[in-house]
Amino acid sequence: MNSQGASQSQLLASPPAGASGSIMTLPKRYYTDPTILDREREAIFYKSWQYAGYAQQLPDVGSYFTIDFFGESLVFLRDSDRNIRGFYNVCQHRAHRLMKGAGCKRILTCPYHAWTYELDGSLRSARGTERGQGFDARDYALEPVRVEMLNDLIMFNLDPGAQSFEMLFPGVASEMRLQIPRMSEFEPDKMPEGFGGSVLNSNWKVLADNCIECYHCTPSHPAFVDLIDMSTYRIELHRMHARHSATIRRVDSKKAYAVGPGEGAEDFIVWHIWPNITVAKFPGIAGFGIFQIDPLSVGQCRSRGHFFRLPGPDTAEEIARREYVAKVLWPEDEAICESVQLGLQSRGYRQGPLVAPDACDGGSEATVGLFQRLIFEALGDIPAFPGQ
Ligand code: FES
Ligand SMILES: [Fe+2]
Repeated sequence: MNSQGASQSQLLASPPAGASGSIMTLPKRYYTDPTILDREREAIFYKSWQYAGYAQQLPDVGSYFTIDFFGESLVFLRDSDRNIRGFYNVCQHRAHRLMKGAGCKRILTCPYHAWTYELDGSLRSARGTERGQGFDARDYALEPVRVEMLNDLIMFNLDPGAQSFEMLFPGVASEMRLQIPRMSEFEPDKMPEGFGGSVLNSNWKVLADNCIECYHCTPSHPAFVDLIDMSTYRIELHRMHARHSATIRRVDSKKAYAVGPGEGAEDFIVWHIWPNITVAKFPGIAGFGIFQIDPLSVGQCRSRGHFFRLPGPDTAEEIARREYVAKVLWPEDEAICESVQLGLQSRGYRQGPLVAPDACDGGSEATVGLFQRLIFEALGDIPAFPGQ
C-alpha cells in the first residue's frame, strides 16, 4: 500500500464521526478556548518542527538573527565550523535577553553584566567569578535548540527528543529539490505584503484549516481557479504532511497573472507540513515560498515566512505574481478566516462535517481531517461529537 493509501485508510478509520457517520470538524471550543491554546503551546508548538529563517541570513561565521516564537526569543547563528546552531536567547546569569535583532559577532555578550559566550554556546567569561565560589563555566552554557536544514531553510524544534524532520516528513526535502527547478540558486524575494508578519483576527487553526483545503477555491478564489485547472488538483496524504498539486489552466490568466514558458512553469505544488507550515510553488518563473502560522492569542495569529527567486532583475511576471498573491489571494483568505472566527463564537454554530474526506481531489477536505486528527492526538483528547 502506498503512503497515500495508508493515510487515507487511517483517516477513514479514525473518529470523530458525527451522528450521521460524517467526519466532523473540531468542536468550536478548540478555536475559542484559551485553555486549549495553552495546551497546544506545550503539546504542539514546543514539540514540532518550526521555521526559523534561511541559510543566506547567516552568511559569515558569527552571523546571527533572533526570532520571537510563542513567548520565547531564540537566536540562530553560524558557528566557527560554519554550522548553523540555535539557542534560547537568554543569558544563563540572571536571564537577560542576550542578542537583539540580527548582526555578526564572534563573541556573544550579554548587555546586563557582560557575561560572554562562544558561538557554540559555551560560557567564555563571567566577570568576577574568578573570586571563588567554586564557579564552573561548564554549568552555564546557553540552552541549545535543535536545528535541521530543509534544503536551505532553517528548521528548529524545542523538543530535544523530537524525531528528525526527515523521519517525520520523509521525502519532502528531495521532492522540493526535484520539483522546484534550480532551487539551489535561489535568493530571497521581496516579500509580498501579508506574508511578512501580518496579524489576523482568527485562531491559528482557522487559517491552517483554510490553507490546507481547496474545496473553497472555486467559490472564494475566482482568479486562482482561472489560473489553475481544478480538474487536475490532487492531494497526497502522508502520516504528518500532505502534498497538493495541480497544473495550470491558462498561461494568460487576466484575473491572476500571465505565466511565461519555463521548466515547471505550469505546475502548482504545495506541501502542508504539520502543524502550521506551508511550502508553495506557484505557477510561473522558478521560485517558492514558505510561511508558517504563529499563534498570538486564542483569537489572533500571524503569518511569517519568505519567498525565494532566481537572481536577476524583476520580471513583469514576478511583479504580477506578487501583486496577485498580496492584493488578491491573501486578502481573500484573510477575510474568510476573520469571518469564520466570528462564526465560531456564535451561539448558532457547534461543529460541521468535513466534505469528501476520503477523496484526493480538489473538492476534498481530507487534509483538514488529517490535521485535525493530529490535533486530537497531540492533545491526548478523545474526539468529540456534535454538541460536545
Ligand atoms: S544577566 Fe547576563 S550577564 Fe547578567
Ligand atoms: Fe484560500
